[in-house]
Amino acid sequence: MRVAMIGTGYVGLVSGACFADFGHEVTCVDKDTGKIAALGRGEVPIYEPGLTAMVAANARAGRLKFTGDLAAAVKNADAVFIAVGTPSRRGDGHADLSFVYDAAREIAAALDGFTVVITKSTVPVGTGDEVERIVREARPDADVAVVSNPEFLREGAAIRDFKHPDRIVIGTVDERARELMRELYRPLYLNRAPILFTERRTAELTKYAANAFLATKITFINEIADLAEKVGADVQEIARGIGLDNRIGEKFLHAGPGYGGSCFPKDTVALLKTGQDYDAPLRVVEAVVAVNDARKRAMARKVSAALGGELRGKTVAVLGLTFKPNTDDMREAPSIPLITALQDMGAAVRAYDPEGMQQAKAHVSNVTFCDDAYACAQGASALVIVTEWEQFRALDFERLKAAMARPLLVDLRNIYAPEEVRRAGFAYESVGRGKK
Ligand SMILES: NC(=O)c1ccc[n+]([C@@H]2O[C@H](COP(=O)([O-])OP(=O)(O)OC[C@H]3O[C@@H](n4cnc5c(N)ncnc54)[C@H](O)[C@@H]3O)[C@@H](O)[C@H]2O)c1
Repeated sequence: MRVAMIGTGYVGLVSGACFADFGHEVTCVDKDTGKIAALGRGEVPIYEPGLTAMVAANARAGRLKFTGDLAAAVKNADAVFIAVGTPSRRGDGHADLSFVYDAAREIAAALDGFTVVITKSTVPVGTGDEVERIVREARPDADVAVVSNPEFLREGAAIRDFKHPDRIVIGTVDERARELMRELYRPLYLNRAPILFTERRTAELTKYAANAFLATKITFINEIADLAEKVGADVQEIARGIGLDNRIGEKFLHAGPGYGGSCFPKDTVALLKTGQDYDAPLRVVEAVVAVNDARKRAMARKVSAALGGELRGKTVAVLGLTFKPNTDDMREAPSIPLITALQDMGAAVRAYDPEGMQQAKAHVSNVTFCDDAYACAQGASALVIVTEWEQFRALDFERLKAAMARPLLVDLRNIYAPEEVRRAGFAYESVGRGKK
């Protein structure tokens, strides 16, 4: 099957490479000419484990191509995916759909023969209706079906998630489109990944409901962590105690600095706007957004409190900048408001991240970027773990102690056992684990 993937970002590139790996002929399109040129040279512009090798293998086999020429890619395609960004609209938090609608207009002009146009971007309920209206108005003659197929992959584990999804959600009642989508995903279907066929609006809302639920789970355990800290209980044990209950489940119960990333923050806010527009306010999600926002600066206060309430003239070392490990994505990373707040309180900030420093430079200023964790710790009065990269899980405490002005570890991801750190001669603060 011939596929055109419009938008070659985290989702478009991973999806395109995986579809090519299934044996489909995929053309990835992007209007960012620098990105297309880099991909043409075999350079993958994002960090995602396994992606460079998969892109190279499929490009070599002639199944994966890159172009800026949307019209040619669409003309030849049986399936056209829209995988462009849907960021928060400045000012009101609604999803900015201008990239989706621009893509729809360009696609419409190039349609040739029966084509299924599939929205993979996360888009509010009713966007598929608007995409269909745009296409039919521009091309009343076109033989087209517009489908919603939200993507649930996680950055850092994107290939695995795409190839072994918990489910595939496909929103369309058009029988020809359903048949084509079944064919496209057949390799996964054979692996027994459940395919859920729904109406288009249901598929669109399913994506937002999933993200809002996960954000709620994280925020819930974060609030329990705050309480646990005050009453001398351990949130890690509580998370295990509730997570083993099958009705709750263990995932997304890790207390930390609050959720960030390219999806949860914008998708929760966009869902609230949809709720308001339809007079169905989502009060639980409203609270989640507010609690998570407040948490960002609270983490800086935690560091300050661990240093006796005074950060002026002190250096803080931050380990991990990306919103989670195994990605270079800095969008809405909790490290950004943390660093800004630490600087507001008078601290000098040093930082190290294995993959995210280049992107981080666009989000924070006056930070000394370092080559590794030990260089980062140099002269610091506190070492703060913000992102739980594997390489931070077995730090050499003797080396750190020698480098630091004062041995204090603030572990915002609870990756260390308190006794272990204290035995190494460090003062230790974590999230939601009352002093033991
Ligand atoms: N990143 C994730 O983990 C993730 C997971 C699930 C769903 N999503 C959703 O998928 C969508 C894409 O997210 P992303 O993180 O891949 O975004 P991204 O910003 O990494 O990539 C979007 C790409 O689309 C390109 N683009 C925009 N308009 C275009 C046009 N008219 N023609 C060609 N290219 C165009 C941009 O140049 C950019 O390269 C969003 O709606 C997001 O919410 C993302």
